[in-house]
Order: sequence, then C-alpha cells, then structure tokens
Amino acid sequence: MEKELKTIREIALKEISQAKSLDELNNLYLKYFGRRKGKLTIILRGIKDLSEKERPKIGKLANEIKQELEQELEKKKREFQEAKIDIIAKKEWIDVTQPGVKPPHGHLHPITQVRREVEKVFSSMGFEIAEGPEVEKEYYNFDALNIPKEHSARELMDTFWLKDGNLLRTHTSPVQVRVMEKRKPPLRIIAPGRCFRYEAIDASHEATFNQVEGLMIGEGVSLANLKAVLISFVKRFFGEETKTRLRPGYFPFVEPGFELDITCTVCGGKGCSVCKGTGWVEIIPCGMVHPNVLKNVKYDPKKVSGFAFGMGLDRVAMMRYGIDDIRLFYGGDLRFLNQF
Ligand code: PHE
Repeated sequence: MEKELKTIREIALKEISQAKSLDELNNLYLKYFGRRKGKLTIILRGIKDLSEKERPKIGKLANEIKQELEQELEKKKREFQEAKIDIIAKKEWIDVTQPGVKPPHGHLHPITQVRREVEKVFSSMGFEIAEGPEVEKEYYNFDALNIPKEHSARELMDTFWLKDGNLLRTHTSPVQVRVMEKRKPPLRIIAPGRCFRYEAIDASHEATFNQVEGLMIGEGVSLANLKAVLISFVKRFFGEETKTRLRPGYFPFVEPGFELDITCTVCGGKGCSVCKGTGWVEIIPCGMVHPNVLKNVKYDPKKVSGFAFGMGLDRVAMMRYGIDDIRLFYGGDLRFLNQF
C-alpha cells in the first residue's frame, strides 16, 4: 500500500509538471481526486478497511500526498492563469497617452451663422427678436401692408397660394403687422425667417430664401434714425471701410421708400461679376412705415412714426463670403457647406 501510494505520487507529480494547459490540469485533478474513480480517492476510501496497525501510518501518508498534489495542481494552475493574462496584456495593449480619433463634428449652416451675427449686432442696438408663421394669412402678407387685392405690387411677389386661401409668406414684413397688433409703441424688433416665392430658380433667385425684417416705431422716429441704425449695422457687419448710399425705391408699405446699397465687399467697389461691374450692391430695402400700415394696427400716425427694412439674408451671406450662386446654400452639398 505504501509503495503504491509513493508510485502514484511520483507519476502524478510528473504529470502535473508536464501539463500543458488548464484543461490538462483539470483532467489530472479528476484522475486523482475524482469522486468515484480518482486514484487517490479510492485509496483514501479504503483506509478504513486496513488493519489497525497500518491505518494511521497509511492514513497519514495518503493525506500528505493528497495535500502535496493539491498544492502542485494549484501552483501549476496559477502559472497558466498568469501566462494567459500576460498574453491578453500583450495583445490588447493600448497607449492611453496616444491622441484620440476625433469624431467628425458638424457645424451650423452658413445662413444660420450669418443670421446669428446679424441678430447679435441688432440686439446690441436694443432690437428684440420676433417671429411669425411661414404659412401666412393673405391679410398679413398683403392687405395690412397696404397692398390691396387689385394692386399691381402683388405681381411683384409671385406667391405660393394654399388651397385654404392662406399662402407661404413672400416676405417677413407680415411680422411687422403681427408685432404691432399685439404691442404698443415704442418698439424695436427684428424678425429673421424663411420666405417663399413662386419663381424660376437661377443664380440669384431661390424659391425658398431668408430675410431679416426690422422695425422701429416711436415718437419722432425719423429717417435720420433709419440711416444711423442701418449704417452702423453695415459698418459693424461688413467692416468700417464699407460705404453706403440710399436710393429711392418703391414698396407699398413705406413712404418714402429706399434701397440701401453698399460698396461691393468682393471687389471693394472696383467692379466685379458679383456687383455686375458697378461697384455697388443692393442690400437693404427700407423706408418710413406708411401711415396706412400704422392705421391698420390702430397706431396714430400723427403721434408715432417709424422705419422698417427687410434685408435678404442670402444676399448678405453671399456678399460676406464672396459666393456668386444662391443655390449653393440650399443644395445640401457637403463639399460646399464644409467650407464654413
Ligand atoms: N418686404 C420687402 C420685400 O421683401 C422688403 C422691405 C421690407 C422693404 C421693409 C421696405 C421695408 O421685398
């Protein structure tokens, strides 16, 4: 019995030291310590049948061998586990100091960027930002603005009419009326937003475009205020060197009406394709609010007066960036948009 135990020990130790994987170790464990067939298990189970003389001696030896083998198995097992971690550590090694891969970052559309800049300049002059609906009533888009039904001015604005008699606003001027209806003077607002015209599309015309409406009403607001505000805006937005000029212009809802031109920012006024060789570009239609418009919102034209303007935001953006085709803004071409 004693001899048998020693042989088992020797063979087992050899097998453990030669094991090549955790699986092999598990099999060895079963071979010696398996509940039913384990070689050592069987011997340990048989100890109780030995003679009283042999029992303590063999029992002691068997237990010692059992402990030794268990320790060896455990030791070998740990070696394998550590080796496994080493391999993972080598394979999955990362350099935490390496600069990361930047996810692609979107940005605001150039029209939105320009709109926000315009808002900033006017906000600093005390103008609030107002909004109105894109689907508008005929009254606000035309009648209240002194453009009655038969008036030829309606033909200047080719309109998308809706089946219910409403329309897509052809300009942001209806916001003037909506604001004045709700509030009492004095007031200073700008109203940026999308407008729509049923037009043939070309390099300078889109069926959808953006305007920024402006309105200032109060006692004694004059043409001098209009000029001061708009010239300040132009200089701050396009640069101090930009020159301006006011020409007469016709809009039914202002009297007198003007076109404010600026020196072409693309060529600096020398003449180029953007300003069609004139050195000037038309940028802000404007004028003194027509007394009929004031009456329509129940303001007293004898007491209050004011000015309004409506600039094409697309035009402003084109000037700002030297872009000669409005369609680029709405084409969704990332090669274009990524440049801003
Ligand atoms: N609403 C006019 C247009 O779109 C522009 C304008 C606004 C003119 C305010 C004068 C005053 O053509």
